[in-house]
Amino acid sequence: MKFTVAIDGPAAAGKGTIARAVAAEFGFAHLDTGLLYRAVGVKALERAGGVIDPIAAELIAGSLTEADLKRADLRTTLASRAASKVAAIPGVRAALLRFQHDFARRDGGAVLDGRDIGSVICPDAEVKLFVTADDARRAQRRHRELAAAGSELTVAQVLADLKARDARDSRRKDAPLTRAPDAVLLDTTELSIDCAVAEATALIRARIEQG
Ligand code: DC
Repeated sequence: MKFTVAIDGPAAAGKGTIARAVAAEFGFAHLDTGLLYRAVGVKALERAGGVIDPIAAELIAGSLTEADLKRADLRTTLASRAASKVAAIPGVRAALLRFQHDFARRDGGAVLDGRDIGSVICPDAEVKLFVTADDARRAQRRHRELAAAGSELTVAQVLADLKARDARDSRRKDAPLTRAPDAVLLDTTELSIDCAVAEATALIRARIEQG
């Protein structure tokens, strides 16, 4: 069975948690596409000693390995920033397209979360969700995650970083963060993660039953 669930939205809105939960519920494979950009960003920074070179980043994207995606340093603020920067390079996006397409159409169902899954990567996805939450709530959640991992950033610093990243991700020319017209909006500002997962699960189940 081929069945694709596309989940998009800004940083720290809860899309990753929802994607993992629904993938487990339906036995679908899950791809966090942000990890692809994070891995390219981190490698590009290393390669160029701090300044990202677009051509080098494109080559790195074209030869990314499973091991690159398992690096322990992909969740840092530095990696987030680098990811958002390399994500604005069209050659990088093009190099990562095929892998994401193939993943989405594998047998057994797939959930992909990112920024452009419903709009560009999988416009024919069976289910599309756009997960969002207000800025303060997203900053609070990301701050809690980072603090648990030992970060000393303040909520205000995390908020500033999220806003800068959202602006870059939404304003870039190539595949900007956008809600596909047929994506169902899930606002998690006042919704617990359990309720958001329940809503997403119900939508997917209804679509599967429709055939
Ligand atoms: O989801 P995330 O925070 O791990 O993503 C990191 C960055 O990668 C994000 O700021 C923008 C970019 N990205 C993208 O441009 N397209 C995607 N499908 C996923 C992530």
